[in-house]
Amino acid sequence: MRHLMSPLDFSVEELDALFDLANDIEKNPKKYEHACEGLKLATCFYEPSTRTRLSFEAAMLNLGGKVLGFSDANSSSAAKGESVSDTIRVISCYADICAMRHPKEGAPMVAASKSGIPVINAGDGGHQHPTQTLTDLLTIRSMKGRLGNFTIGLCGDLKFGRTVHSLINALMRYEGIHFVFISPEELKIPDYITEKLKEAGITYEEVISLEDVMPKLDLLYMTRVQRERFFNEEDYVRLKDFYILTVDKMEKAKEDMLVLHPLPRVNEIAVEVDDDPRAAYFKQAQYGVYVRMALILTLLEIEVA
Ligand code: CP
Repeated sequence: MRHLMSPLDFSVEELDALFDLANDIEKNPKKYEHACEGLKLATCFYEPSTRTRLSFEAAMLNLGGKVLGFSDANSSSAAKGESVSDTIRVISCYADICAMRHPKEGAPMVAASKSGIPVINAGDGGHQHPTQTLTDLLTIRSMKGRLGNFTIGLCGDLKFGRTVHSLINALMRYEGIHFVFISPEELKIPDYITEKLKEAGITYEEVISLEDVMPKLDLLYMTRVQRERFFNEEDYVRLKDFYILTVDKMEKAKEDMLVLHPLPRVNEIAVEVDDDPRAAYFKQAQYGVYVRMALILTLLEIEVA
């Protein structure tokens, strides 16, 4: 039985096969509409979510399966003190596959070790968000036609942002990537990540100004400053609007640069930018359904002829 804890759980070749499947699902949705009939997905979300939980549910429903679960730890027996290990043992009796989000790093891994069904990490604290990374990679591959040979700017909360940490891990395996880390000093990319990049001989730069680096970027990955990861409200208030991508800044960018964002957005992208054809973040959310459909089929070892 296979779980998904990190984007690195799949080899580059396996990811290619997953993305080919997701692209086929996008083109031929009817072919897959009965693939999971009689099967159930449990969504166990101990933290808030709109996209991840609902796109997982949409994915299973599109495949003809059913869904059950909880969207708030307080409406589950976690509120009575039940451990994640006990919960997954019980969920294994009710469902065929489980997507779990948890505020504690490593909680989905603990669940996987006790589970009778495949467990998918749907985000664990500030650690990893592998299905967001699959979504990001599918979006880049589908819209740029390649996964390599580009300069990518990652902007905002690079310290706590699990989507950023997961994406860097995944992109490190492709050729010709240059990273530009754009953040205030307080939200810098952690040293353990830059150490890994140095060891792998991957080039990167760390800057504060978004405007200065706009002209060189092929991709700009914006992120939210996450109030829920701060220990102190004053720091959050000081940093929350540090970056705002505006139409003026977009004028400095390449004509084919893509703007990605895992969403939710707060203030970091002005709504006027949504009308720019380079704004890819809502399309990215749509790719999240296709890639989660492909992932469910892959982990359940279902082949559709
Ligand atoms: N991108 C993402 O994880 O969004 P949600 O928190 O809404 O699931």
